[in-house]
Amino acid sequence: MAFPESFIKELTERNDINEVVSAYVRLTKKSGNNMFGLCPFHSEKSPSFSVSNDKQIYHCFGCGKGGSVINFIMEIENLSYPDAVRFLARRVGMAVPEDEKDVNFSRRERMLQLNRDAARYFYEQLSAPNAEDARQYIIKRDISPAMVTRFGLGFAPDSWDSLVFAMQQKGYTKPELLDAGLAKASKKGNGGIYDTFRNRLMFPVIDIRGSVIGFSGRILGDGEPKYMNSPETLVFSKSHNLFAMNLAKKSKMGYIILSEGNIDVVAMHQAGIDCAVASLGTSLTPEQARLISRYVGEVVIAYDGDAAGQKASQRAILILQQLDIKVRVLRMSGAKDPDEYIKKFGAAAFENLLKRSESHIEYRLADIASKYELSSDESRVAFIKEATGLIASLPSTVEREVYSRKTAEMARLSGDTVITEVERIRKRILGQARKKQDSESSRPAHLTQPRGKNLRFDNIKSAAAEKGVIRLLYYEPSLFNEKAQLSEEDFSSPLLAKFYTQLKERIIFGAQPSLALLAENFTSDEISILTEILNEPTELSQSERALDDYIKIIKTEKLKRHSGDGESPDLNEIANKMRESKGYGG
Ligand code: UTP
Ligand code: MN
Repeated sequence: MAFPESFIKELTERNDINEVVSAYVRLTKKSGNNMFGLCPFHSEKSPSFSVSNDKQIYHCFGCGKGGSVINFIMEIENLSYPDAVRFLARRVGMAVPEDEKDVNFSRRERMLQLNRDAARYFYEQLSAPNAEDARQYIIKRDISPAMVTRFGLGFAPDSWDSLVFAMQQKGYTKPELLDAGLAKASKKGNGGIYDTFRNRLMFPVIDIRGSVIGFSGRILGDGEPKYMNSPETLVFSKSHNLFAMNLAKKSKMGYIILSEGNIDVVAMHQAGIDCAVASLGTSLTPEQARLISRYVGEVVIAYDGDAAGQKASQRAILILQQLDIKVRVLRMSGAKDPDEYIKKFGAAAFENLLKRSESHIEYRLADIASKYELSSDESRVAFIKEATGLIASLPSTVEREVYSRKTAEMARLSGDTVITEVERIRKRILGQARKKQDSESSRPAHLTQPRGKNLRFDNIKSAAAEKGVIRLLYYEPSLFNEKAQLSEEDFSSPLLAKFYTQLKERIIFGAQPSLALLAENFTSDEISILTEILNEPTELSQSERALDDYIKIIKTEKLKRHSGDGESPDLNEIANKMRESKGYGG
């Protein structure tokens, strides 16, 4: 699918990259024409994410991500190219040219509309005469009317086709209902469809932009399956969303509470704790963690106290730590989950629990200790071994000391012994890390190779010149008259060749082409590489000579390639080749 170039041009002109990025990243430092901030795509402590005002590109010197304003929106909003374009169009009130070929966009919009209509229908059904059981169940679970409204809870009637019927009345088709996961095809093979959710308390799943993307339906009382969720659809992915994140992202509490159940979330919000979310019946995924990290730097895990919950906690801790999110773990005694705890002991008690929730290190130490009896010498040694390994990985000296002493106490050893052991292990770890870094940076190719694993340049020398050509082509398109033409075969790197031809195709009357126009034809990794190339300094006053030099290098390297395995070709050979190619062979 393609948008008209003039449209993309206006779109990118009206969506100034500084303004767009500023909605997500605090750009604090200024250096020349660039603004710097903390990169939203990887975790870092000092800003290496740059936005260039004159080039209208962003580039992170840390993780290598970069591109135009469209790439930025694709990346940060997790949108496809056309959706990112539409997102930016909406932002500045531009109409998107009608485009019949784009089936997916209209399908998405239509599915969201259907989900919203279905949510409204379920909500209305809650006051219908035949919803008495649902109303009773809500009362039994102590869910207040305010929470019913806040979460948009609803009722799927005990019927085979009430939703299907209501939605068809509104003009939705059978395939649309099937695609959205709201209906299933009848096994009879007569083309009939029936409601997916029947006789269930309905929880709409709402994404951070406020769209209803799916549903979770709980049985009223006991029975199997307890919950039924929307299947993966064009708009719903369980692993990328969190229940109630649309509400929690607005919380002022400064952290997110991660729980297992929808009901737990409702109970916590009802108790005034508005930062609770639940992963939709899966254990926390890296995508969900990244979603959280966009809003807060701290998470409190409040999973169920059972074995499954403990295991899920461990996994979640690891995932969250990788994003530098501070993790605390809630330990509930006397109740299996937050809902039960609040019902039994009250909101105030739960808040107390929150205040006392352990740092994840304490939690993990206790967990390690529980594996060993700590009565025999042998088990104490094993415990110390595992615990010191954990503590040695903490970057803060103070923390290492505090937890070393705590561990010592647990194993009835002297604090100093444990501290010495921890520091010994730490030295070893640091030594290994340094060695690894040294060996990486001593490889000359290290800095010139792109970061993506599948995108290594075979011929670094030629690739450097090819990059130079691309840079000049971008900033000085008028240089590319007929004399200075290269063909794709001249390039050693297919990717660089593709950049070259695509850029060239887009030079209109010597005007600088726009990076935004290329976004559609390259992956985000590829665009990042291109951005890195464009971000390198260019000495434009010498550009004509530079271009000559680059072309010379590229042609020489090409000859080498064709004359056999990278050996320097002798001059006769070059002369021969040139004669051959001009047709005076012999
Ligand atoms: P729970 O069984 O803990 O549910 O499952 P809950 O929300 O706390 O409900 P109550 O308190 O028992 O009534 C945790 C989450 O796992 C998912 C749901 O998202 C649920 O909220 N789940 C559970 C399913 O997807 N399918 C199931 O069959 C059960
Ligand atoms: Mn539960």
